[in-house]
Amino acid sequence: ESHTEKLLKAAHAQATQFYHHLLMNTVEGERALQYLYERGFTEQQLIEHQIGWTLNQSDSLLHVLRDDYPLPLLVEGGLLTHFEDRDQYYDRFRERIMFPLRNERGEVVGFSGRIIEKKEGAPKYLNSPETPIFKKNQLLYNLDRAKSPIRKANEVILFEGFMDTLAAEREGIHETVAVMGTALSEQHIIQMRRLTNRLIICCDGDDAGWEASYRFSKFATEHKMDVTIAILPQNMDPDDYMKTYGGKQFRERILEMSHSFMSFMIQYARRGKNLSLDYEVEQYIHEVLTELAERRSIIERDLIIQQLAELTTVQEATLREKLAQLTTRQV
Ligand code: CTP
Ligand code: MN
Ligand code: MN
Ligand code: MN
Ligand code: MN
Repeated sequence: ESHTEKLLKAAHAQATQFYHHLLMNTVEGERALQYLYERGFTEQQLIEHQIGWTLNQSDSLLHVLRDDYPLPLLVEGGLLTHFEDRDQYYDRFRERIMFPLRNERGEVVGFSGRIIEKKEGAPKYLNSPETPIFKKNQLLYNLDRAKSPIRKANEVILFEGFMDTLAAEREGIHETVAVMGTALSEQHIIQMRRLTNRLIICCDGDDAGWEASYRFSKFATEHKMDVTIAILPQNMDPDDYMKTYGGKQFRERILEMSHSFMSFMIQYARRGKNLSLDYEVEQYIHEVLTELAERRSIIERDLIIQQLAELTTVQEATLREKLAQLTTRQV
């Protein structure tokens, strides 16, 4: 570990404490605290995760850190920004709820800041940039805490957003991690696979979530994980679902009912298609069978062909012929 990395981690630890203090103990933090309680957070959870708040002020973290660290280093670490023309330093994060991002070892290496009220042009979440200690495509939120629960369950649940992980935790579901709203990377897979082979992908029930489920499950399957895909009701994410139906029902109706890749595919490819139009039926069949052609199990092939025949009223024999065509083409 380099000197720079050590310093940056120390600065992040100090920033975490400062932001957490602002949330828990100051008048300025009250609105954010109320927002978090309304969303279901408990005090214990806020403390355990050291969740914080930043002021609507451009130099408050600057004052906390400026005597202990070189300012350009804090810029490199994503805590401050530097305006070249005025040669001034500013806090990067302002007026946001601050979620510390921890690496596998539990060290804070970045932040994700959420706004409380929608604002024109302001993204809902502002994350730390890529820095010597934070790579978005390598970090799995909560991995530091979830390791032993994942081993114990021999299963990992993957969410799109860390709010879902925090919601699951409140429901006593601890074997979960989240990507930072990005693609699933090889690094992510490697980290999970050290703990278990079994992955449940549980993305949001919106278009972006369906697309993410497809990409994540293909990628993880290619990397030899045992994947199932949990499907949520339209426009609900895991956090919404648990708020409405509770963790028990989330486990029983969503996680335990998660789908094999091909069974997911049958639903995924069907989205947005009008199956009373021949062209769209053909497209649908093409999409499903293209995936099926990559699968080896003849039992699975059989089961999916049967389902597809029922759904489209195209004869099984025809589907088999089409599957055979697609299979040869690949070799
Ligand atoms: N994300 C981001 N920037 C945004 C929106 C989303 O970086 N403007 C990332 C965040 O890491 C977030 C994830 O994508 O955790 C999932 O996005 P979304 O589903 O919109 O967020 P939720 O977790 O549902 O957050 P909330 O419930 O607070 O809206
Ligand atoms: Mn989403
Ligand atoms: Mn396996
Ligand atoms: Mn969401
Ligand atoms: Mn949400």
